[in-house]
Amino acid sequence: MIEVKNLSFVYSPKTPFTTQALFDINLSIETGDFFGIIGSTGAGKSTLVSHFNALTKIQKNSGAVIVDEIDLSAKKIDLKKLRAKVGMVFQYPEHQLFADTVLKDIMFGPKNLGINNAEAEQRARDAIALVGLDCAEIAERSPFELSGGQKRRVALAGVIAMHPEILVLDEPTAGLDPKGKREIMDLILRIKADCPTVVMISHNMDEIAEYCNKIAVLRRGRVMGVFSPRELFGSEELLESCGVELPLVTELAVKLNGLGVAVDKSVLTENELFEEIKKAVGVKNA
Ligand SMILES: Nc1ncnc2c1ncn2[C@@H]1O[C@H](COP(=O)(O)OP(=O)(O)OP(=O)(O)O)[C@@H](O)[C@H]1O
Ligand SMILES: [Mg+2]
Repeated sequence: MIEVKNLSFVYSPKTPFTTQALFDINLSIETGDFFGIIGSTGAGKSTLVSHFNALTKIQKNSGAVIVDEIDLSAKKIDLKKLRAKVGMVFQYPEHQLFADTVLKDIMFGPKNLGINNAEAEQRARDAIALVGLDCAEIAERSPFELSGGQKRRVALAGVIAMHPEILVLDEPTAGLDPKGKREIMDLILRIKADCPTVVMISHNMDEIAEYCNKIAVLRRGRVMGVFSPRELFGSEELLESCGVELPLVTELAVKLNGLGVAVDKSVLTENELFEEIKKAVGVKNA
């Protein structure tokens, strides 16, 4: 689905400010993946995903990215086709809202794809419902009057209305409170029913451990490896060598275990930890 081959990228080449952000990246993202990308700040995560919808152009002799059959290293790329396929949601997507009503904002993407007004409006209304907002209440309001969480939902709706096959999310829960984070993650799971492939950058290891089936670890522009959550978070050596922290739930399980509470140290989600604690203290399921 997305094939990244020997991709390198240099900002401001041939200037005193030149920075190589990516070094020889190889990755394979398959249909159905919930693909996590992690790594400390400046590792190259945003630079990497910005190639997936050709927002960043592949530089000469710097590798390739193939999205389905679209070769993004080609001279001419069918951007319309690509952007209909790959929906990109940036960090703080609410900063990209611009229209004078929520409905118009969400209709903008589908209309840009050449979809007629009536269908674009229907898609926008469906997307508003999917992100859990009340269409009658919100459609004609200015997006700028909404709360932070509502704005983010509207921005997500704008991408969903384009019916992408691949959703790329750059830190989708950044800056939200715990309830807002949970709601956005639930929403992403709902979107995944129709858009089977999700790529998510996150600094939140609990989210990564709970939702992703594969995790690519980037460090200083290089891929340290692609792992399953259990492989990565279950290996002290890997965590150490990749410079990755444990999810908080796993850390808590390790601490409880150290105190003699017989819980499995490899839990990755709140539910798994809850079940382990119930077992350890002898609570039977009702
Ligand atoms: N527009 C730019 N011009 C020059 N250098 C840039 C630009 N954007 C990013 N960089 C540099 O490229 C490298 C990778 O940056 P990138 O934004 O991809 O990292 P990131 O992993 O997304 O970090 P974060 O977690 O902070 O979002 C960094 O060294 C950064 O300083
Ligand atoms: Mg980034």
